Amino acid sequence: MDNTESSFIDGDIGKLLYRGYDIHDLAEKSTFEEIVYLVLYGELPNHAQLEELDGYLRANRRIPDEIITVIDAVQSAHPMDVLQTAMIGLAAFDEESEDNSKEANIRKALRLTAKAPTIVTAHHRVRSGLEPVAPNPDLNHAGNFLFMLFNEIPDDETVSLMDVDFILHAEHGVNASSFAARVSASTNSTLHAAVSGAVGALKGPAHGGAAEEVMKMSIEIGNPENAEEYARKKLDNRERIMGFGHRVYRAEDPRARHLRERSQALGEKRGDPRWFQILTHLSEDVMAPYRDRGIYVNVDFYAGSIYHLLGIPSDLFIPIFALGRVPGWSAQCIEQYENNILLRPRLHYVGPMDREYVPIDER
Ligand code: CMC
Repeated sequence: MDNTESSFIDGDIGKLLYRGYDIHDLAEKSTFEEIVYLVLYGELPNHAQLEELDGYLRANRRIPDEIITVIDAVQSAHPMDVLQTAMIGLAAFDEESEDNSKEANIRKALRLTAKAPTIVTAHHRVRSGLEPVAPNPDLNHAGNFLFMLFNEIPDDETVSLMDVDFILHAEHGVNASSFAARVSASTNSTLHAAVSGAVGALKGPAHGGAAEEVMKMSIEIGNPENAEEYARKKLDNRERIMGFGHRVYRAEDPRARHLRERSQALGEKRGDPRWFQILTHLSEDVMAPYRDRGIYVNVDFYAGSIYHLLGIPSDLFIPIFALGRVPGWSAQCIEQYENNILLRPRLHYVGPMDREYVPIDER
């Protein structure tokens, strides 16, 4: 097993640390900007360090017009495909794209973190027949994302909700997408290539796609009373209930708690508690027996209900996960570059051996 200093997970007790700090402290007390600093530099920033990083993020949100043209050309694709395309396209406009020094990679990581929300929101506006909204330097990272999405200054509570969501998604060890990024980095490919590859790996429903699937499931269920029958049918067919289970956690995913509380509060505030009720019935009653097998809710279980209540279209749920994860992917790559070894697993060959080649006319 290789060493890492980025994050620690104890799946048996549901413990998660970013650079040694407990996720509960970080979710309750810090901001996404602080987490970006922590994940990339290994320490929590002081005021001056935070101000500098925040200023850098705010100054680097704009994306080149050429990238908007690319987004326009591929607008019918899934937002994750557009994000991946635009992110790798940004390499063409980044003078440091081929510089794999740690300092350059941290700067690129910050630029990618700053620009990713601009890509996602510009795409959503373009495909909706609207003009992209320019970044607003007066808003923090989370607030600016919401502003560019809806062209409205968001209220503080919504900004704080999105900020916590980004914090909870910022880093999570060598999950599938971070591993994909590390594999690219292990060939000494560039950060743009590694991070855009990670976007592709995150897209699948077994990884980042679960929040969208949970919301689809909640809409199909419609009412808490239907939850049991719906889940029973799925489980009898040996299908999975989205938002449950995790490769590492055999206890509740510690990130879920923060989104559960916020999903409940937002549902009540918006006069639409139904989604939270459906989710609660699923987790507390229907799926409770599965806890003995280590199957609990994961980070994606409550996230979809929050995004839905905020009026965010369901195919933007995975991109939101990606926006939070850019610093984590980058930190994983930087670790990989620092102590590099080519990641090249071997598979056990089970196909036929030594077959005789038959010319095409004789087949
Ligand atoms: N619903 C019902 N049964 C499940 C579920 C679930 N969500 N997850 C696992 N199981 C069962 C599975 O059927 C298997 O049963 P059996 O031993 O009888 O065949 C057993 O638990 C072990 O499953 P596994 O696939 O070997 O477990 P895994 O560790 O490979 O799976 C997982 C992890 C996340 C792919 C899986 O739990 C899953 O598909 N969950 C639903 C999708 C989801 O919510 N993904 C988001 C993950 S968290 C965000 C992120 O970090 O990406």
